[in-house]
Amino acid sequence: MKTLNLTTKINVYTFDEASESIKKLIEAAKSATKTAYAPYSEFCVGAAVMLDNGKIITGSNQENAAYPSGLCAERVAIFSANAQYPNKGMDAIAIAAFNKGDFTNVPCCPCGSCRQVMAEVESRYNKKVKIIMYGKSEIYEVDSIDALLPLSFGKESLSDI
Ligand code: THU
Repeated sequence: MKTLNLTTKINVYTFDEASESIKKLIEAAKSATKTAYAPYSEFCVGAAVMLDNGKIITGSNQENAAYPSGLCAERVAIFSANAQYPNKGMDAIAIAAFNKGDFTNVPCCPCGSCRQVMAEVESRYNKKVKIIMYGKSEIYEVDSIDALLPLSFGKESLSDI
């Protein structure tokens, strides 16, 4: 037997330490929380995608009385970007969450299904996507979905024998 040790590099910084372009993307994600439809969880998430033409596309979580029919903010933003600009890859996505009257202190990290969708985006456009997870006290940033979803299932998995 052998053991594979995987390492994950996460940059941790505060909002004030962020570059101007990252600040702009985070502000767009924070602002998008206002458009969330979250009457069931009251947990309002915003996501902002930066396309490689500089455009910012936002999304927010959209819940449903039939709970599984709702969708996370990240997938709303990514699918919207893909539908409007199918030929544009993504440079980065920022995520923020507003809960009980304020933005969360801890970084808002994407759920497993959103990670899988982000992996597809990297594969589709053959380009790494920076993921910025906003929290009031600190921000987490990874260079690629590989850091959050190692050993992922992708198109090469389908053709492997
Ligand atoms: N949610 C997101 O939109 N993104 C995440 O990364 C985590 C969870 C939403 C789904 C649901 O509407 C609410 O937050 C509570 O889980």
